[in-house]
Amino acid sequence: MIVERKSGWRLLIIGMAFVVCLLTPGPANAEDGYRLWLRYDPLRASDIAGYKIRVTALVIQGNSATLAAIRRELSDGCSGLLGTEVPNAADAGKAGSVIVGTPESSSIVAGLKWQTELARLGPEGFRIRSLKLGNHAVTVIASNGETGALYGAFHFLRLMQTLQPIDKLDIAQKPRLQLRMLDHWDNLDGSVERGYAGRSLWNWEALPGTVDPRLRDYARANASIGINGSLLNNVNASAQILTPEYLRKVAAIAEVFRPLGVRVFLSARFSAPMELGGLKTADPLDSAVAAWWKKKADEIYHLIPDFGGFVVKANSEGQPGPRTYNRSHVDGANMMAAALAPHHGVVIWRAFVYDMRPGYDRAGAAYENLQPFDGKFAANVLLQVKNGPVDFQPREPFHPLFGGMPKTQLMPELQITQEYLGFSNHLVFLASMWREFFDSDTYARGPGSTVAKVVDGTLEGQHLTGIAGVANTGTDRNWTGHDFLQANWYAFGRLAWNPDLASPQIAGEWIKMTFTRDPQTIETLSRIMIESHEAVVDYMTPLGLHHLMWGGHHYGPAPWWNTFERDDWNPVYYHKADARGLGFDRTETGSNTLSQYHAPVRKEFADEATCPEKFLLWFHHVPWDYRMRSGHTLWDELAQHYQRGVNWTRATRREWDALAGAIDPERHTAVAKKLALQERDAVWWRDACLTYFQTFSQRPLPAGVEKAAKTLEEYKAKSLVRR
Ligand code: GCU
Repeated sequence: MIVERKSGWRLLIIGMAFVVCLLTPGPANAEDGYRLWLRYDPLRASDIAGYKIRVTALVIQGNSATLAAIRRELSDGCSGLLGTEVPNAADAGKAGSVIVGTPESSSIVAGLKWQTELARLGPEGFRIRSLKLGNHAVTVIASNGETGALYGAFHFLRLMQTLQPIDKLDIAQKPRLQLRMLDHWDNLDGSVERGYAGRSLWNWEALPGTVDPRLRDYARANASIGINGSLLNNVNASAQILTPEYLRKVAAIAEVFRPLGVRVFLSARFSAPMELGGLKTADPLDSAVAAWWKKKADEIYHLIPDFGGFVVKANSEGQPGPRTYNRSHVDGANMMAAALAPHHGVVIWRAFVYDMRPGYDRAGAAYENLQPFDGKFAANVLLQVKNGPVDFQPREPFHPLFGGMPKTQLMPELQITQEYLGFSNHLVFLASMWREFFDSDTYARGPGSTVAKVVDGTLEGQHLTGIAGVANTGTDRNWTGHDFLQANWYAFGRLAWNPDLASPQIAGEWIKMTFTRDPQTIETLSRIMIESHEAVVDYMTPLGLHHLMWGGHHYGPAPWWNTFERDDWNPVYYHKADARGLGFDRTETGSNTLSQYHAPVRKEFADEATCPEKFLLWFHHVPWDYRMRSGHTLWDELAQHYQRGVNWTRATRREWDALAGAIDPERHTAVAKKLALQERDAVWWRDACLTYFQTFSQRPLPAGVEKAAKTLEEYKAKSLVRR
């Protein structure tokens, strides 16, 4: 009996250990975040019962690199999720076949006679339908283009990854924007400007001979969310990228990206004809200069037939440009566009231009520089405009060029990397911020003229559309430095595909694919993500404040800073704190750059009483005792916002700690460490800013707001170090 009982216990222990092993990923399957949202671990038996009969074989006829990529992804994905090998088959001879292809690649797709519908969806759109072929229930994923079929395949996998039904599918989708790009500000020495997740993913030294296999995973991740372009080098460009030696390296990268529908773009330095071609000038109206660019374009397309085009930062922050030769932005952009046009390439001309007269308002500079050229850019030029008028601040009103240049193809530039939002240390879900941007009403053609409609081309009938996001990726094993910031890469792609997607939907999808399918945990994580942007604004720059970061790193607070050589690189320029109050007057009594917006927006923002309080100090210089809508004074409310931000970081840490059993230990620990840094920094922001602003307001902190632990001098000493 005793022996029997012992062995019973032993069996139980072995059994429990087995279950624990099943649930806990071992070292061979380390949860290091590398797989992003493309994790194909087996779903629970109860979840896959309905899937298994619908996915019994993959029928992908044809032989191209993209079709091979689809086959591989679906095979890995379906076999992984269903926990059983899903074989490839030559025909749809059995129920549960998943047929993928184009009318050209697949006789089955051709036989469905979907030509009209597929033509409507274009080469990147797709149709997914459950239907009967003969007696068999099958699923067809079809597109007119192989890239569209690839996107459809990823969509189908996402349905299973997020536990959606797949038995009665009737889906038709196409991207709302044509160019959906990640911009890498990567330098040729491997460093990344404003990068916080390791080094550049492109190993220039080893290329073209050796291409890191990781680049294929990068392209897969992009394809899975519809990103179809990648700018490889920093907008502060070195001309070297355009040398034959580097172009061969670029071509090797393009080769890996091509099957996954990602085209490469390059930042072109405007003075390259001088640096590489030995010309005496880069004047865009000089025929030798134009001829140099034309020859360069021919050379590039010879190596990379699907090259996307050039991104140009000209006459901005010291970069060369047409104005160096007394020519205009249009002269420069159109000259380069002419070189690319025969190859169907585009020029993406950046509007981040603010080299203006002393005493100007930087927030109005891009509009003043570019708006007069509305309607003058060539058909293959897009003007790339940052979401807000200053520079990727935690919160900005929309840039007045949106709605301000109806005859120009505008392309928003968002920043996924968190230059001003706590680098890769702070959990901030940026979809909420981008939603606010897309939903802003420009009133360009009356109410409802949202930024989304401007950029998807529907408001003005724009032919060429696009969007770029400055990437947050690097060589860190988890790609983005912080596991949760993968969600911003994901969200960017999803919103580029459909700028109307709601943030909770994006968050929910990403959590299910990346972390957990447990409903309660999803709810908690989703709430944390959705709240996070407002929280960061609270503890960094509430109520419309902006650019309070120290200019040397853009990480920690230095609202007192006033010694950079240019006024508009100093925080004091932006907050204008004095004994009377706080904020930048951009109304008629101040810089009047508010006049760049259409009348209804202007009217709403111009009046303190109607201006959204989140933008109050962006547009107004407000007295410390001004009554906010809550009834509190400006000073009290400002302090409460800072405290609220800190409180959020503390509450979030507690919630995260409580999820220890629900998240794998490796990522749980990594995120917990980051959240500790976020709390530390939120306290630093609150205390440094309030201690400094208090020297002007001369008012006590309101109840509930904690006193700073250090003196202003101590915070000042700390501002130069990033810690
Ligand atoms: C910001 C950023 C720079 C970048 C610039 C740009 O100012 O700090 O690093 O080069 O934007 O967008 O061109």
